Amino acid sequence: MERAKNNSQLAVLGIESSCDDTSASVYIDGKVCSNVVASQKIHEEFGGVVPEWASRKHQLNIVPTVHSALQKAGVSMADIDGIACTQGPGLMGSLLVGHSFAKGLAVSSNIPYVNVNHIDAHVLAHFIDGDIPPLPFLCLLVSGGHTQIVVVRNHFEIEILGKTIDDAAGEAFDKAGKMLNLPYPAGPIIDQKAMLGDPNAFQFNTPTVEALDFSFSGLKTSILYFLQKEVRKDASFVTHNINDLCASIQHTIVSYLISKMDKAIAETGIIHIGIAGGVAANSELRAAMQTLASKYQGVGYEPKFEYCTDNAAMIAYAGKVKLERKEYGTLNEVCFTRK
Ligand code: KG4
Ligand code: ZN
Repeated sequence: MERAKNNSQLAVLGIESSCDDTSASVYIDGKVCSNVVASQKIHEEFGGVVPEWASRKHQLNIVPTVHSALQKAGVSMADIDGIACTQGPGLMGSLLVGHSFAKGLAVSSNIPYVNVNHIDAHVLAHFIDGDIPPLPFLCLLVSGGHTQIVVVRNHFEIEILGKTIDDAAGEAFDKAGKMLNLPYPAGPIIDQKAMLGDPNAFQFNTPTVEALDFSFSGLKTSILYFLQKEVRKDASFVTHNINDLCASIQHTIVSYLISKMDKAIAETGIIHIGIAGGVAANSELRAAMQTLASKYQGVGYEPKFEYCTDNAAMIAYAGKVKLERKEYGTLNEVCFTRK
């Protein structure tokens, strides 16, 4: 029997598997009812994501994660109106697990499925709940794979104003952490240790790049050469100065990101700003974005922590908008690694 529902009551199952987190979420009636994330510890020992391991772990995790998301939301597949899944960008093997699973489940449940762009979903996390930014707003998208400044004009009208020409901001955190002998992903650990350190203890070179673009490879080299020089003089330099090193590196990255956002506000005149992606969980960056917004009498918007790092709630939300518009996916679509 056809269920009589209006658009806002749609029940959506979101599936995310673009990198090393397997996630499933149920979004019903404008509310996240569950958002389950299975993280893969195996990459810690390699100091970064190993694509082959990531896809194998997704295969193990996908069924229990989806099952758990349905259970936590108190629903079964019979209650779900559509499935949303990440089509890309991401690691091909990882994407294929979630995408193929989502298509199969949609076909067997006789419901539509929609493709979601992972980057769009990070930005759209602003609309899940809490304070929703007015349109248009500027968004700093900072994750392990991407660093962009975008203008969000509408749900899927997102214009890129600037982007990294090499590493992403999250990669800069993770690679610096590796040099400091911290486990992967180092971003959250650097954040914690930085709270106990002096952000001005050490100075690192910030790269000069045109307009609103970014570059992080020079910073990586600057940190590496500095550490090599200091460790030659004192083998325990890193251990003895770990908090100051974390605070100084974080401060360098955050100041660089903020200087570009400042430029973007000055150029566009858009004073309401948002932040998205895993690095958006960084406490110094969140505080600095608020200060920047205040400087222009604007407002800084930040999604909840759990909607910043990779999660399926953002996929389910973006999928809901596409389901409302009936922008269904077709079975012969493929995943993609780059936008
Ligand atoms: O968005 P995300 O979960 O995955 C990608 O799409 O890449 O972002 C992961 C990145 C990692 O580089 C991680 O170190 C970084 O986000 N990250 C942080 C923090 N939490 C996660 N970086 C700095 N401070 C944090 N608190
Ligand atoms: Zn992401």
